[in-house]
Amino acid sequence: MRVQGIPYRTVWAEGDSVKMINQTLLPHRFEIVELSNHRQTAEAIRTMIVRGAGAIGAAAGYAMAQVANEAPETSFREYIEAGARTIQETRPTAQNLFYAVNSVVEAIFGAATTADARKAAKEMAGIIADADAAECQAIGEQGAALIKDGARILTHCNAGWLAFVDWGSALAPIYAAVRGGKSVFVYADETRPRCQGAMLTAWELQGEGIPHAIIADNAAGFYLRRKEIDLVIVGSDRIAANGDVANKIGTYEKAVVAKENGIPFYVAAPATTIDTACPDGDSIPIEERDENEVLTITGLNSSGVVERVRISHPAARAYNPAFDVTPARYVTGIITGSGTYAPGRLADAISSPFFAGTLQRS
Ligand code: MRU
Repeated sequence: MRVQGIPYRTVWAEGDSVKMINQTLLPHRFEIVELSNHRQTAEAIRTMIVRGAGAIGAAAGYAMAQVANEAPETSFREYIEAGARTIQETRPTAQNLFYAVNSVVEAIFGAATTADARKAAKEMAGIIADADAAECQAIGEQGAALIKDGARILTHCNAGWLAFVDWGSALAPIYAAVRGGKSVFVYADETRPRCQGAMLTAWELQGEGIPHAIIADNAAGFYLRRKEIDLVIVGSDRIAANGDVANKIGTYEKAVVAKENGIPFYVAAPATTIDTACPDGDSIPIEERDENEVLTITGLNSSGVVERVRISHPAARAYNPAFDVTPARYVTGIITGSGTYAPGRLADAISSPFFAGTLQRS
């Protein structure tokens, strides 16, 4: 996608470095970060400089290629295994991260020499990133068919191009529909505590010239009940084998209220988000994040400086689960690059041509 006319991916490799858009500064500043070793790249995933399932998957793949590059001949295997652990420990929920690390590790250990292993790691990381962009573009084409001209669409968090290498999952159908000449209106949930909807989704939609409004998280039910929303499209960080879906905290409520009001609720995700080894939503690891994300809020002050302010009394404590699980019965369909499937038909999605490497989990 383009930023001020220049095409960007969210994350890419340049020489031995990994480069990425610093998402913690958006929408106020657009900056590229350069990370010269795997520890820095892992830290960027942990601190959410890069975030979103596909983007952290691609970043993890590139970080694993950095591990292979750095690994000394004398302790090659140990260094690879330790590096893989460091990357896998950054964030627990998004399946794409584990898929990417495992795929690159498999490519490394499948090579005959350390030189071949380094080359294979770099190639596999590139393939994973390219496949992510390609499947998201295909999700756009598949999902656009579900969007009627004039549709009013609710989305939650940011599952746009910033959350992937390019295009996005939930927003890709919207981009494709608009490029195909349809008009749409998007309701973007603000998505407390980190406000990815208000800060990232709204910025993306603005960049594409798509009419939208940010709504408070607790306003979605109001619009769903009044039938002012025609369909809901969200992303996912991990989809269990039974079709239960983990996504940003607050998704479950939207799904229940959508069903109550007879409004279709779609989940858009590449096949790499499906975890065949995870039987159901209760088995998906849910990240618990720092309470300060709830106790504070970040924004631009009147002097043009980005500031974090506290919104509660000094002794207040907070709970901060980052994701929730929406049971499959609330999901109308899962939009992948190879088609839109009922949650019970995930086996069709995982025969997708978009898989680059292994299917196994951490
Ligand atoms: O915590 P984040 O920002 O990495 O969470 C990921 C998300 O943005 C959402 O859960 C999204 O809807 C699915 S990931 C494309």
